[in-house]
Amino acid sequence: MKILYFKLRAVVVTWLMRLLPRNPPVVFKGVNSALTLCEQVAVLGYSKVLIATDNFLGSSGILDGIKATLSKNGVEFAIYDGILPDPSFDKVQEGEAAIRTERCQAVIAVGGGSVLDAAKMMAMLHTNPGTLESFDGIQKCKHPGLPLFAIPTTAGTGSEITLAAVITDPVSHRKIPIVDSKMIPGYIALDAEIMKGMPPGITAATGMDALTHAVESYLSKASSAATEEHARAAVRLIFKYQVRAFNTGGDLEARDGMALAAFYAGAAFTKTSVGYVHGIAHQLGRVCGTPHGNANAMVLPEVLAAYGDCVHQRLADLAAVAGIGQQGDSAAAMAGKFIQAIVDMRREMNLPLQPKDLKAGDIPGIVDEAIAEAGSLYPVPRYMSEAELTTIVNGLRAA
Ligand SMILES: [Fe+2]
Repeated sequence: MKILYFKLRAVVVTWLMRLLPRNPPVVFKGVNSALTLCEQVAVLGYSKVLIATDNFLGSSGILDGIKATLSKNGVEFAIYDGILPDPSFDKVQEGEAAIRTERCQAVIAVGGGSVLDAAKMMAMLHTNPGTLESFDGIQKCKHPGLPLFAIPTTAGTGSEITLAAVITDPVSHRKIPIVDSKMIPGYIALDAEIMKGMPPGITAATGMDALTHAVESYLSKASSAATEEHARAAVRLIFKYQVRAFNTGGDLEARDGMALAAFYAGAAFTKTSVGYVHGIAHQLGRVCGTPHGNANAMVLPEVLAAYGDCVHQRLADLAAVAGIGQQGDSAAAMAGKFIQAIVDMRREMNLPLQPKDLKAGDIPGIVDEAIAEAGSLYPVPRYMSEAELTTIVNGLRAA
């Protein structure tokens, strides 16, 4: 009965996501495309913008070129650099207050997923005043937000192209997903130059997040020809460039490839949702504080292996685009090689295999929440039992 309810709910959510009207953003690609985006701000006629970022990036010098280009083109700017990881609603309100007091006409978000999520919500809050609860759900914003320009500094979340933002309630610490297609930024710059300073640990974790988005999207029952094409492109690029970007941060070709991979993976999963890997990873973040990309990397191969036969052909497709396996291999053999290649990539980048402080007593709660999230929201290829998920999460304690 519960599985029937999950299936019905997943079908409804899937069709809602598919039917949402989306305006395709303008995307600038390549080295120094962030500066081209800033020139575009002037071309569009904005005379004052808010740069939304975090404290580290605000003082790192990464904004220097952006600030200089805006000034050269006659665009004034104010900076709000108070965004923290897992952005909370009070910080969103602070940023929106800066938009108002500085009389800004647009927002330029410069940062990772947390900054982009917070900036999306700041831009929406400016034109849709309300409490956090009033945005909880799908398409709750009546009006378009302030124009939003996105410059991602990491290659992972794909937040620059997704229609969602996760904002934390500062009192209950509950993470609230806000889904509205009006939140997709209008202009995006995928600039390898901006990403070259990303430390190896962040490069590894964010790249595995992008890989998980692509794989879970490809396995989703809501996938379409367009999302499958994007997911395959992301997987192809990740297997070509992820370890290179990890080993040599200044490798601009690899950074460029990964920026595009994260974007394609985001474009795919924003229409299909994800799956059990994310369902478990979100709980590892909540209970153990495990960073999102690291948590995905811990469980991605294990969940793929647990799905079994029903995903072999799909994983074989991804193995082929990644250049893994040989002609004549069966689908099962190709799938096994693809999973092993993920394990090898994880090892090459020294990613941790265990969440810190995962206690046996935490496991039932993690499994219950993962089942509720993945079962009711994601069109997973096969529903897994409580026992199967318990085995996967238990395995993390022994890894
Ligand atoms: Fe993710």
